[in-house]
Amino acid sequence: MKRFEGKVAVVTGGGKGIGAAVAKRLAADGAAVVVNYAISAADAQTTVDAIVAAGGKAIAVKANVAKRDEVSALFGAAREAFGPVDILVNNAGVYEFRPLELIDEEHIDRQFNINVKGLLFATQEAAKDFDGGRGGVVINIGSQVSLTPPANGSVYSATKGAGDVITRSLAQELGPKNVRVISVAPGVTLTEGFVSMGGHEGFIEFAKTRTPLGRPGRPEDVADVVATLVSDDSRWITGSVIPVAGGLTL
Ligand SMILES: NC(=O)c1ccc[n+]([C@@H]2O[C@H](COP(=O)([O-])OP(=O)(O)OC[C@H]3O[C@@H](n4cnc5c(N)ncnc54)[C@H](OP(=O)(O)O)[C@@H]3O)[C@@H](O)[C@H]2O)c1
Repeated sequence: MKRFEGKVAVVTGGGKGIGAAVAKRLAADGAAVVVNYAISAADAQTTVDAIVAAGGKAIAVKANVAKRDEVSALFGAAREAFGPVDILVNNAGVYEFRPLELIDEEHIDRQFNINVKGLLFATQEAAKDFDGGRGGVVINIGSQVSLTPPANGSVYSATKGAGDVITRSLAQELGPKNVRVISVAPGVTLTEGFVSMGGHEGFIEFAKTRTPLGRPGRPEDVADVVATLVSDDSRWITGSVIPVAGGLTL
């Protein structure tokens, strides 16, 4: 029997990048996976098709995690398709780097709305399913930038710092209900979003010089750790921020 057989997972932003790798990995380990997306329906369907072709179970569901009613509908769809949720991976996120003088309200609101509000709304919904002694696991995809914040990344780093603090707080709040909450902090990871960011080549070269293991991360490097943290092997871990970054310090 696969280790997540009978479990239901929601992966926000599961259509590409780290989220797609996490969705595929959890499905390969037996979970039925809800692949959430906001805009890119085709990417989400590609992830679902890959899971189903490999013998797994998955559906794609559209929802902007920054909108509470859409998050509620996302979990409604998850319950209808597969039953109550056991695993939530708060992966949906946006990143934008700007020097202080170029920060405006839109830059702040967009990143906080998706990276912080979205994480809270999704966890609120998942917690309803975790009640009644069922328990559950929440993995928040944070970032190395909360641990060693780079120049020009004050707002993005602040959203990820907020995520880590929420992880620690909710681990306290939900622990008595048998819910574990953990942050995973990737370093530079080659994803669609990262590669589409202006100036990524220079950033990769810089990051390599700061990474003892000498290469940028791959989505699967993060997904394998997420699966380990979700599994019962990690039953004594909660409230932790786990760097998954090849030793990178920015
Ligand atoms: N790549 C890195 O180097 C790196 C390093 C550290 C941490 N991270 C974190 O890892 C996570 C994933 O990053 P990535 O590089 O894989 O990003 P990506 O390739 O840009 O993918 C982001 C995913 O999030 C989804 N998304 C964005 N806004 C959303 C919203 N409002 N509601 C629902 N889904 C939404 C996107 O779906 P749509 O296309 O449908 O909008 C997409 O599937 C983020 O939280 C990021 O901060 C990334």
